[in-house]
Amino acid sequence: MDDQPIVVDPDLYATEGPYYPEDWQSETTSIGSSIYRGLMENGRRYQSLRNEEYLVPSDDQMFETYEAGHLVALILDSERENPLFRSPVGRDPKHILDLGTGKGVWAIDVADMFPDATVRGVDLFPPPVSWMPPNCVLEVDDALQQWTWREPFDLIHMRIMIGSFNEPEWEQIYKRCYDNLIPGGWIEQVEASPVIQCDDGSLPASSILNTWGDYTMECAKRFGRELNAIDTMSDSIHKAGFVDVHEKEYKWPIGPWPRDKKYKEAGTVNFQHWLSGMEGWCMWLLTKYGSPEPWTKEEVHVYVAKMRKELKDPSYHTYQRARRVWARKPRPDELASAEKNIKVEKQ
Ligand SMILES: C[S@@+](CC[C@H](N)C(=O)[O-])C[C@H]1O[C@@H](n2cnc3c(N)ncnc32)[C@H](O)[C@@H]1O
Repeated sequence: MDDQPIVVDPDLYATEGPYYPEDWQSETTSIGSSIYRGLMENGRRYQSLRNEEYLVPSDDQMFETYEAGHLVALILDSERENPLFRSPVGRDPKHILDLGTGKGVWAIDVADMFPDATVRGVDLFPPPVSWMPPNCVLEVDDALQQWTWREPFDLIHMRIMIGSFNEPEWEQIYKRCYDNLIPGGWIEQVEASPVIQCDDGSLPASSILNTWGDYTMECAKRFGRELNAIDTMSDSIHKAGFVDVHEKEYKWPIGPWPRDKKYKEAGTVNFQHWLSGMEGWCMWLLTKYGSPEPWTKEEVHVYVAKMRKELKDPSYHTYQRARRVWARKPRPDELASAEKNIKVEKQ
């Protein structure tokens, strides 16, 4: 488990230089074209496929955020031959699925890595992709509706799906994954916590960064879709019948403050991830479920602006926890012998 504190770079003390390029401060990205249908609210575009609302927008700014999140995950596993997933599916998987694919970046990279596999990504909103490898298929659908894919998958992947489902829906999703994998196939999920942490006391207790995570988690709880998948997914996957459950813990630094090169790089990109993501992560939640009363759009803008300022303070050595879980669907012989053992125990 990666529970060692990340060592601070003592030479980083000003918000100037290569890690804080000027243009990071002007991330007022324009809303994309109106070709895609969707619901506009508070200046952001949301999916309209599902009757139930999904709290994060599907717009250019969010797609940029997903791309940055993808890079953070890749950098932190960059020493691995395959930084995209850890499930041991062998060199020749046939069918791979990415649930809630977002911009489709993971699915596209996996399709590039396994040109003989068919890699599907599914999402509520069409990803803005101009080119895709021929073996990658991005589809618009609700993962909670009936699955119509005919071929069983070698691997089903999900990343940052917190807030997408309530508890019974999560159960349904894991069961669907189980039912749609080949025997011996793998499920893999990566989640990050919205809570911002710090190991050396450099983040003031009174800072917004310090309270943001718990506050947004409370709002999501009121909405009925919690943001705690990082801590629940392993048990839920096990409960769904998967075996061989593995976990890998990560610290995703926020900002270029670490001394180690890999962490510095990851923190630099994660800083960008937060700058472009924060407004979209909280606008819907705070204007619907803020307490004691729902916030106005303007209040959210002020809040986000204050957070941005804090994020840019290099003396705060912040990070968020992330976790990867991968597990296997048992083979028929394992199921049969498990059943036999239960029968023996009952005698
Ligand atoms: C936070 S994004 C993560 C995107 C991508 N997995 C990544 O890591 O870059 C979660 C995605 O799940 C999608 N999503 C949420 N509920 C869904 C559902 N019921 N069916 C399909 N996609 C869903 C959202 O539209 C969103 O694009």
